[in-house]
This record gives sequence, C-alpha cells and structure tokens, in this order.
Amino acid sequence: MNLYTTKFFTYKNNSLYCEEIELNKLTKEYGTPVYVYSKNSIIENYNRFVKAFEGLNFRVFYAAKSNYNLNVIRILNKLGSGIDVNSQGEFFRAKKAGVADKDLIFTGVGKTLDEIKLAVSSNVLMIKAESLSEVIKINREAGKIGKIAPVALRINPEVDAQTHPHITTAVSGSKFGITFSEALVIYGNASKYPHINFCGIDIHIGSQITTPDPFITAVSVMKDFLLKVLQLGIKIEHFDIGGGFGIEYKPEDNSKFEEIAALLVPLLKSLDCEIIFEPGRFITANAGVLLSEIIYRKRSGDKEIIMLDAGTTELIRPAFYGSYHHIQPLNLDESQPDIVVDITGPICESSDYFAKERTIQSTIEEETLAIMCAGSYASVMSSNYNGRRRPPEIIIDKNKVYVSRSRETFEHLLYDEKIIKEL
Ligand code: LLP
Repeated sequence: MNLYTTKFFTYKNNSLYCEEIELNKLTKEYGTPVYVYSKNSIIENYNRFVKAFEGLNFRVFYAAKSNYNLNVIRILNKLGSGIDVNSQGEFFRAKKAGVADKDLIFTGVGKTLDEIKLAVSSNVLMIKAESLSEVIKINREAGKIGKIAPVALRINPEVDAQTHPHITTAVSGSKFGITFSEALVIYGNASKYPHINFCGIDIHIGSQITTPDPFITAVSVMKDFLLKVLQLGIKIEHFDIGGGFGIEYKPEDNSKFEEIAALLVPLLKSLDCEIIFEPGRFITANAGVLLSEIIYRKRSGDKEIIMLDAGTTELIRPAFYGSYHHIQPLNLDESQPDIVVDITGPICESSDYFAKERTIQSTIEEETLAIMCAGSYASVMSSNYNGRRRPPEIIIDKNKVYVSRSRETFEHLLYDEKIIKEL
C-alpha cells in the first residue's frame, strides 16, 4: 500500500510517529478514537504560506472554522496570524484563546442580530456584510452605540472554483455574498450609512482549490470592480481574498501551491490594497490525524469490511463530500499482504464510510489505523449522533504530549437536560 507521510508524521521502525511521539503508545494511554495534531506541522504550514506571498503587503487571518481548538488558535495567533471567526461561538473561542479584537475578522453568512451587536461593539478589524439588509442592520446597530463600523462587503464574483459543488461558493445564484450590481448600489449610497466605513472588500470562492485559474480569474474580475468602486469615491484599504488553498490528500498528489502564489503575487500587488488571506485547510489539515481502532473485520457478500470505532460522527467528510482521506496502519508489517476493503464506522447510517474498495495492508482487529489529514473540518464537524462522545484532541510538540481537550463524558451528553416529573 501507499503511505502518506510528512515531515511530522513519519514511520520509524515500522511504527507511525507524530513528531517524536509513537502513536501506538499514545493510543494505549488515551484510547481511540482520538485526534492528534502536530504543533510544528501547523507552524511549518503557516510559515510556508507566508513565505509564498513574500513581497506582498498582506496579513493572514486563519479561518477558525477549519479547526478552532483553543490551542490551535493560540499557536497561530502567537505566530502573528489574525483569526477569521464565523460566528459568536468562534468569536468566544478566539477571545478565550487570547486573541485581540484588532486581530479578528467577523465573518458570518447569516449573522444574527446578537452577532451584529457583538461585532459592532467590539474593535475587530472588519465585519463582513453579505447583503443589503445586513448593511442596514450594521449601520443601525453601530449608530445606536455611536460607532463607525469597519465593513467589508462580501462580493460574489461568480467564478466557478472547480472543486466539489458542496464547497463552491461563488457561482451565480449562490447564497453567499452580494452581486456586483447590488454592491455598486450600496457603495453609491454610502452616505446613507454614516455609521459604516466601507474599508474592505471580500471574496471567498470555495475550498480545496488546487489550480491557479479560479483564483486568477476572481482577482482579475475584482480588479476591474475595484476601479468602479474607486470611481464612486470609496477607498478600499483591505482586499480579502478568503481561503480555499487546497492540500494534498493522496500520497501521489502534487501541490501547486507555490505556483498559484507566484501567479497571484503580481496581480494582487497591482490592487494597491492590503491583502488579507483566510486559509484554514492549508494550515491545519495535514497537521492532524484521527486514530481509530479496528473493532470488527467481517465479510458481506463479496466485500471485506473493516469497521472502525470512529465514524462519520468524528469525520464526516467522506460521507458528506465523497472526500478521500488516506488510511494506514500505525504498525507496518511487510509480511502482511495488501487487501481491498471497505472501511466503515459503527454509526447506524449507510453513508458511514471512510473508504470503499481501498487497498490497505491486511490488519487485524484491535490494531489502530490512522486517518490522515484530519486536522481540518474533522473535530469541528463532529457530532454526538448515536449518543457518542466527542474524542480528545491532543497536541504534540516534539516529545511532549498535551491534552488540549479531553474525551467528552456521558454527563456532557446530558448537559442541562433534566427529567421533568410532570411529563
Ligand atoms: N474564509 C471563508 C469566508 C470561508 O467560508 C472559508 C471556508 C475559509 C475562509 C477557509 O477555507 P479553506 O482555506 O479552509 O478552504 N467543510 C468543508 C470545507 C468548507 C469550507 C467553508 N468555508 C470541507 O470539509 O471540505
């Protein structure tokens, strides 16, 4: 079988390590399923991102939605990254992690009134607005407290990100953002919104984008649009290109990230604004794994099935988007043949699969498998369905192990739920 290894997830003596920690030993202590993140992999991904855009006037605002573990946010903020928060809950997490308001961007596809009140009363760098109604509400709420809110209109540039339809956001008719024509009307009427400073402009065209074209097209289209906005007397200080930079999920994938960045730098420079990036997946995806024990091996018809103790409750991406995650044993045993199996979870759903017809080294019950690239959109999308407890999140820094979040208890599942005698 092919192996997916990185500088921070490597096999030594046929045993998988995260940095200097042997994962087999870790699971003996903390059980499975468990998420394990490599601190130095997060740092390296962040530095790689920053290096690729060297020479550009830019800032990174890590998209917390991809992995908002408090310590992940903190590690990135300490490196100099701002944080893009998508809700009141993510704002709360970022503040708990010690992030200053000025290092936050308040995103949110459909912000509640409470979220707008929170955003305008804070001192975040920018609040995104995704509709005329939202502009009106932000202006009204800022006015009530005598503030001028820094706002970035999120534009739908109508560029197909050429990725999975569930993670494409900028096609015509999408619920995300504001059309060009409506945005021009809002900018033209800027004087109607005295409590708003239209200092930014924002796009986010989709996620797991692995080719330059969608980004190039989007920025080119936005460049023309910015000229029109300038003609209306609006000076845009920040151009926020969003996130979306794809990663290698398969061992044989070849990242074009540096190539994409090199093509984008001159184009972005010509916009004459501070550029903001909101990468999520690029920073955390390959810095995390989900470790899960094989609880059963069985046959069904002509299928060989490996059933894990993790399921779609811990990693929904394969079921949701048909996403590929490489799966490999913690212990390599070259004497074992490769077999073709379906890898499933224990959840009562037919879509509870991690992989179908996957070639993997034959591995017995009670051995543990590593599901790779589970640092983004894994724990944050987990659920308690089937009465399951969320797994621990462990962060490794060289030879040190930190439990950032413990496994939920059964009591957590009952949070504030009580027997009502009258019922
Ligand atoms: N900025 C905005 C406004 C976003 O909506 C997103 C992601 C990002 C930044 C970060 O995008 P990234 O760099 O991670 O691609 N659950 C899906 C991905 C959903 C992305 C949602 N928005 C998945 O597991 O593939």
